[in-house]
Amino acid sequence: MKNDGPLAPALDAAAASENLLSVRVNQVRFEARAIQSYELVDPDGGQLPPFEAGAHIDVHLPNGLVRQYSICSDPAHRHHYVIGVLREESGRGGSRMLHERLHVQDSVRISAPRNNFRLRGGARKVLLLAGGIGVTPLKSMAHELERAGVDFELHYCAKDAACTAFRDEFANMAARGRVRYHFDAGVPGQGLDIGALLGTPLPDTHVYYCGPPGFMKACAASTLVWPAGAVHCEHFKAPVDSDPSREGATSQPSAGTFAIRLHSTGALVEVRPEQSMVDALQGAGVHVATSCSSGLCGTCKVRYRSGTIDHRDFILREDEQAEFLTACVSRATSAVVELDL
Ligand code: FES
Repeated sequence: MKNDGPLAPALDAAAASENLLSVRVNQVRFEARAIQSYELVDPDGGQLPPFEAGAHIDVHLPNGLVRQYSICSDPAHRHHYVIGVLREESGRGGSRMLHERLHVQDSVRISAPRNNFRLRGGARKVLLLAGGIGVTPLKSMAHELERAGVDFELHYCAKDAACTAFRDEFANMAARGRVRYHFDAGVPGQGLDIGALLGTPLPDTHVYYCGPPGFMKACAASTLVWPAGAVHCEHFKAPVDSDPSREGATSQPSAGTFAIRLHSTGALVEVRPEQSMVDALQGAGVHVATSCSSGLCGTCKVRYRSGTIDHRDFILREDEQAEFLTACVSRATSAVVELDL
């Protein structure tokens, strides 16, 4: 995203080379058990680049880790981005580092917002289903839908009230039945009856859901009967794939050797079974930007011109997969795949 407008935040020299924004932490709030929100602002008080509901940013942590967080604030409010972060003790360390080391007044580098989970137009009613911290992209959608006057319900599933974030911000919507809480006391299936809510497709209605793996599975199973194009989801963790033919589909390369042909030069780059396309290209001096390295964010999306692809991402629609692949996780099943590089 270009940042040359008078209202855009300054880019420092290092950040500029990677097209990153330097922002300041203006506020850190305790939102719920193990959940803090971080309000990020332009250090000079300007507006931040626009974003659409459902967008996320990469946060570049001081130790080099890069983590994606959905922007949960109202897209109409350009003076800040707010992200909600669940501290995951068993995670890879990004959320722990944020909770422990990112404080008010600190500077942090972030990417411009990207969106793989945008609201589609044309729905008369929208159902938003959130599991735990999966509420963050749906919260920005709720703000957007509220302003647009679209009928919506946000079903927020959590263990209990103490684990439920943004309750003060949701208070008004909750009072009007727009936001509904479902607590399961930590026993899956005791809260919202997802099958009952989604079991019958509703006309002119779109469904959006985001949450932990079990929640995603339940929503996916219940929406199978819905028309294509009416159901949208975002994983915040690569799902564990139970299909053995897709072994390693979450993030690790596997299967056979193939070659990438670079369209610009015709050069061939071998991709060995233990390598991703990104790694093989990097070894050949061709840089493809990455972020999640799990097929979740779309940063490494590349157009391909020929070849048969084993798509292993969780974001591209079928029509997009006919044209693009995610080079961090996807493989070719043909001997050669020609990339638009
Ligand atoms: S880097 Fe996120 S999809 Fe490839």
